[in-house]
Amino acid sequence: MNFELTEEHLMIQQAARDFAQNELLPGVIERDNKQEFPTEQVKMMGELGFLGMMVSPEYGGSGLDTISYVIAMEEISKVDASASVIMSVNNSLVCWGLEKFGTEEQKRKYLTPLAKGEIIGAFCLSEPEAGSDATSQRTTAIDKGDHYLVNGTKNWITNGNSASVYLVVAQTDIEKGHHGINCLIVEKDMDGFVVGKKEDKLGIRGSDTHSLMFQDVKVPKENRIGEEGFGFKFAMKVLSGGRIGIASQALGIASGAYELALKYAKERKTFGKQIGHHQGIGFKLADMATEIEAARLLCLKAAWLKDKKVNFDLESAQAKLFASATAMKTTVEAVQVHGGYGFVKEYHVERLMRDAKITQIYEGTSEIQKIVISRAILKD
Ligand code: CAA
Repeated sequence: MNFELTEEHLMIQQAARDFAQNELLPGVIERDNKQEFPTEQVKMMGELGFLGMMVSPEYGGSGLDTISYVIAMEEISKVDASASVIMSVNNSLVCWGLEKFGTEEQKRKYLTPLAKGEIIGAFCLSEPEAGSDATSQRTTAIDKGDHYLVNGTKNWITNGNSASVYLVVAQTDIEKGHHGINCLIVEKDMDGFVVGKKEDKLGIRGSDTHSLMFQDVKVPKENRIGEEGFGFKFAMKVLSGGRIGIASQALGIASGAYELALKYAKERKTFGKQIGHHQGIGFKLADMATEIEAARLLCLKAAWLKDKKVNFDLESAQAKLFASATAMKTTVEAVQVHGGYGFVKEYHVERLMRDAKITQIYEGTSEIQKIVISRAILKD
């Protein structure tokens, strides 16, 4: 077992760190305040290869492993979790799903510009009544011979307005339950597709989260991913990979807050010494450092298994469960270490604390991760 990062991994880490510090950090507070999408920065992420990291160069990607993706996600999330969720959805849910299960034509037409970052994608599963209970899809995709007719509403869709391509999960045959669900590639300019209201969120405010409406949208049959009825399994498989991305995002939020708290604890003096040398603060930093390291190892293990092409459903759920709890706990403590300064925007930790919460909710709540984990460990 080797815990050292390779030369290539270290280079990716440095490139992501430089990008985050130079391009994301300067405007991050303002974008959060104004709920402004990081358009220029996302364009740069595409040019640097961060939007199709694991996609083969044949389809415009960077051809890197999942470990590289975890490393880059951590660095970018330390500074700007809004940028990193845009990156995570495009990489894990959209590009990975298309490369693994798409047809050659779908890969040429959709995956290639997505992997290059020329356009970005969105993954549309959640509905007003189907968030955790993903089999209860109300959006319908009725088979009309050469096309599906799509009707319904999706909620809380990341990249909702900024995407050009949407992977939409919908029910074709209600009698068949989850075996009657399909996932279709929908283009933004298809007739009857309407982008609904933008959500005003607690955190990740620079990313755009929208509801979407489908009113008799005609989607050609060749835009279905996989065989008829494969949509639910497709969603489960991409979400399992997506959880590695969100776990890494949570890891980055935690380590970003920890680094700021550590720096502050070395600078700030009270009662004649650096506050880090008061046990009340030193013990907090010790817990943070230990839990972050554990979260990092869980993320890397899940990524390593995925790269080995063996089942990683259990490990990605464990990584997400633990890393998101670590993000929440660490950011709350980082605000505490900063005292009053932690409560104001200028010091960044209050934003990281707000951003942390969503990592316990999207791509499956912590309770959903516990369902996945307990089923896996109880299975004979
Ligand atoms: N891989 C392949 N197949 C899988 C699978 C996986 N990881 N997990 C389940 N399946 C299959 C099962 O084998 C089963 O198939 P068969 O009937 O043929 O055997 C089928 O899917 C149904 O499985 P379950 O009976 O386990 O389904 P369930 O209804 O009990 O639900 C669940 C399981 C884990 C709770 C699932 O509903 C789930 O993951 N829910 C959470 C959904 C979620 O993550 N939503 C987030 C939305 S996306 C998002 O947040 C993106 C964003 O914006 C950032």
